[in-house]
Amino acid sequence: MNGTKQYEAVVFDLDGVICFTDVYHYRGWKSIADELGIPFDETVNNRLRGVSRMESLGIVLEPYEGEPLSDDRKMELAAIKNERYRVMLGELSPKDLDPSVRTTLDDLRARGLKLAIGSSSKNAKYILERIGLGDYFDAISDGTNISRSKPDPEVFLKAAEYLGIDPAKCVVVEDAVAGIDAAHAAGMYGVAMGDAADQGVGDAKLGTFADLANVLTDLGC
Ligand code: BG6
Ligand code: MG
Repeated sequence: MNGTKQYEAVVFDLDGVICFTDVYHYRGWKSIADELGIPFDETVNNRLRGVSRMESLGIVLEPYEGEPLSDDRKMELAAIKNERYRVMLGELSPKDLDPSVRTTLDDLRARGLKLAIGSSSKNAKYILERIGLGDYFDAISDGTNISRSKPDPEVFLKAAEYLGIDPAKCVVVEDAVAGIDAAHAAGMYGVAMGDAADQGVGDAKLGTFADLANVLTDLGC
């Protein structure tokens, strides 16, 4: 019967959906911005959601008016930020996975839905291991297997390919406006939470992650 269902898989963004590492991104980029003497705040941090590390650096450097930075120096700054970020990720543990997220994921799996990750992060697998979901998902598409980050649909199309499921049968859950745009560009249904929900984008909106169960029931899953 599954083959006749409109939706057969859910692809989850990671940061800001399954767990909350945005504060660590904020601290990492803020430390770089402070050292360069440029402003950085939550508004800028929100623009980094779903965007690759190097593109994020480009956004962080927009107010920079010092000596031009070479490509090598930019790579070095991104690497320093990532080292600091990884140290903070080391503090994550299964306690950082909200029990209602786990319960909701288990519920969706019990309905026969395939579950995947679609994240721009090159640290996605490490984060999943830290929070105890290292082996949980049926497929992981992340920053290590894409050449274009959200709003390009590549990360979600790869997730559908790894699952062996038609993109049109996938639902995406995202906290980034760029991620909802990527879902739509992939021909997928986009469920917004967090910042994306606040910005009014998406085909449905979640107040909490657990609301996803009802959204999917309404979609016939
Ligand atoms: C996304 C975050 O998940 O990953 C972005 O929303 C981040 O803010 C991007 O820039 C890349 O992350 P990483 O871990 O590869 O530096
Ligand atoms: Mg996100």
